[in-house]
Amino acid sequence: MSILPQLMADTRLDARAAARPPAPVAASLRRAPHDGAPTTLPAPAAPRAALHDVLPERTAIRDYARTPLSGADLSALFAAADRMDTRGWAADRAAGVDLELYCAAWRVTGVDTGLYRYRPGRSELCRVADLPDGREAEELVMQREFAEAPALLVITGNLAAAVARHGSHGHRLLLTRAGAAGHAAWLAALRLGLAGTVFAGLLPSALRERAGADGYHRAALFAFAAGHPIPDLGPRS
Ligand SMILES: Cc1cc2nc3c(=O)[nH]c(=O)nc-3n(C[C@H](O)[C@H](O)[C@H](O)COP(=O)(O)O)c2cc1C
Repeated sequence: MSILPQLMADTRLDARAAARPPAPVAASLRRAPHDGAPTTLPAPAAPRAALHDVLPERTAIRDYARTPLSGADLSALFAAADRMDTRGWAADRAAGVDLELYCAAWRVTGVDTGLYRYRPGRSELCRVADLPDGREAEELVMQREFAEAPALLVITGNLAAAVARHGSHGHRLLLTRAGAAGHAAWLAALRLGLAGTVFAGLLPSALRERAGADGYHRAALFAFAAGHPIPDLGPRS
């Protein structure tokens, strides 16, 4: 059988498996996070613009002003990403197929430079590891411009749990969830007057060392780089 019909047959099998009442995933497939000291985030900032006003200007921005992000703005991005996943995939979350949101913070008011895990219930960041800054920050991402953002929201998922629950369809579901969460953060950023882009060019070794992201029980899936736009100074006279 050629590859395409085989893929379609697999997808049909996956869909049938996904329709069965799925069981909770085994605790052995879950990995405890490396949570350290907590930093409480301010309440999420309220949107400063309506979505329909900012959506026409949405475009991927990869260069940012040096201005730090406020803690409240960062809080709003993480809350939006988490809300998207809570509303969209409650059953998977309840069964133990988690997305985790990490923050690489370089310039966030009230948050020291470091790698953190977001704890949504408490609106809190738990320190997970130190992060290099300057040129060395590039060891986290494939493109230098993302290492120069004030902060990254990094989405990881439990691929082992997703596949145990849904078969190979679980991988697609996990990627869909990460995409939805990343884009929710992006839309929230636009409504706060921030700029950014979603991207997938994360370097696995940096997250493996710092966050125990082995690529299976905790797999880096997607990310959103956020910052203030560089002001448009207009034409020089
Ligand atoms: C799954 C996925 C992975 C992406 N990975 C990267 C990346 O590694 N680097 C990058 O600069 N942009 C990445 N992007 C961002 C796209 O390049 C960006 O969304 C695209 O340029 C559309 O932007 P536009 O609507 O402003 O044209 C990724 C987007 C998606 C959906």
